[in-house]
Amino acid sequence: NVLAKDLYTKKRDFGDESVVLTGWIRTIRNSKKIAFIEVNDGSYIKNVQVIVKSDLDNFDDVIKLPISSTLKVTGKLIETPDAQQPFEIHAEKVDIEGVSDLDYPLQKKKQSLEYLRSIAHLRPRTNTFYAVFKIRSLAAFAIHQYLQNRGFVYVNTPIVTSSDTEGAGEMFQITSLDQNDLPKDANGKVDYSKDFFGQETNLTVSGQLPVEAFALAFRNVYTFGPTFRAENSHTKRHAAEFWMIEPEMAFADLDDIIATSEDMLKYVINYLLKNASEDLQFLNDNVDDNLIKLLQTTVNEKFARITYTEAIDLLEKADVDFKYPVKWGIDLKAEHERYLSEKVFGNPVFVTDYPRNIKAFYMRDNDDGKTVAASDLLVPRIGELIGGSQREEREKELADKMDEFHLSRDEYEWYLELRKYGGTKHSGFGIGFERLLMYVTGMDNIRDVIPYPRTQGSIKF
Ligand code: 4AD
Ligand code: MG
Repeated sequence: NVLAKDLYTKKRDFGDESVVLTGWIRTIRNSKKIAFIEVNDGSYIKNVQVIVKSDLDNFDDVIKLPISSTLKVTGKLIETPDAQQPFEIHAEKVDIEGVSDLDYPLQKKKQSLEYLRSIAHLRPRTNTFYAVFKIRSLAAFAIHQYLQNRGFVYVNTPIVTSSDTEGAGEMFQITSLDQNDLPKDANGKVDYSKDFFGQETNLTVSGQLPVEAFALAFRNVYTFGPTFRAENSHTKRHAAEFWMIEPEMAFADLDDIIATSEDMLKYVINYLLKNASEDLQFLNDNVDDNLIKLLQTTVNEKFARITYTEAIDLLEKADVDFKYPVKWGIDLKAEHERYLSEKVFGNPVFVTDYPRNIKAFYMRDNDDGKTVAASDLLVPRIGELIGGSQREEREKELADKMDEFHLSRDEYEWYLELRKYGGTKHSGFGIGFERLLMYVTGMDNIRDVIPYPRTQGSIKF
């Protein structure tokens, strides 16, 4: 009937009544007469110290327990102001719930993150992953809270879709049969009639287009769900399955979404600094000793804003040998994005007005004929965290651009209708949830901030 979280964070009386604690043994040290057991009950990153004395009937069984065995301890809660932990439980009774095997893979010594990835079902029991996944849950909550408090309507957009929102051809196709078994027409094109109810479908790369339709009914909306990309980039910041938050705002322009995304990011980080302070402290002590300082700087300073053209200028003047050469028109690579945010600004920076040819078809053309009303937020350690834009709301301009980008008008007819039937200026952005988590946890690899990473190789979970 007690939880470690309450014991650590709430005031309570010590002494008289007995308390009951259930949890997993993290460590056990014993002599003939007394055992010190560190129990983690899952509610908090810190353990509760349990003292077991040899006058207990099952003392001999208890001291033999391997780590990760589960217990139910009944005992007195004793205040210990001079010890490392502010309190401990003196056991009056220990019920053994489950005896762990001796070959439990998470032994006391530190194991590599690579190894822990191979045991994704057990890694949440380590302090590092406990902190990461606690923060993941709290960050998701803070995002919903921020948006809901401001009247944004949460829309669930489809996972199975026929469209390629980003137009980048990075989709996982859904097929019920082996591709080779599907019939082909005379030109060798696969006949999908036996697939998803006779239609060619794929996993969504973004919920943006379907959520735009809802923005034009509810004004301010968002989608927050899994998205999939069959990108061939095996980097520490790309995952095949990742979650994305995509707010979309009617009657809003690029300046409005830049302001909203900055405010939202700062809200989430402030929420974590307040509500996940122990978890952040652990990560600061064990993963990245600059983490809390970085987060405090992020919330305290206004993000800079430059145009893509100014960014290229800064990169061309930089005294750095970039692997990928810089010139106007290139898509910025991680090395460029990190240079700008880490070296030039030392904080997140918005880069706006990218060349139209390297961005998606739905972005609104600027009057210069060369750039679009887009903005990416680049952050230290990661690079691109947020991608957003003002959408092309003019029906004719959008239709022409679809032709230019070789998109089928038939397939996107519904999207054009959003402009045909009372269109308006509207804008939105997408935050990669895992990249946000990398930023707020200090973890260096996207595989370490998602419970079950989907990357190349065997998927066993
Ligand atoms: O820049 P992206 O591709 O933009 C969109 O999908 C728009 N539809 C968003 C919108 O305007 N509603 O992706 C948005 C963000 C990126 O900034 C990045 O943080 C993340 O999603 N992202 C990935 N995260 C992990 N793995 C990948 N393969 C990712 N691709 C994009
Ligand atoms: Mg992008």
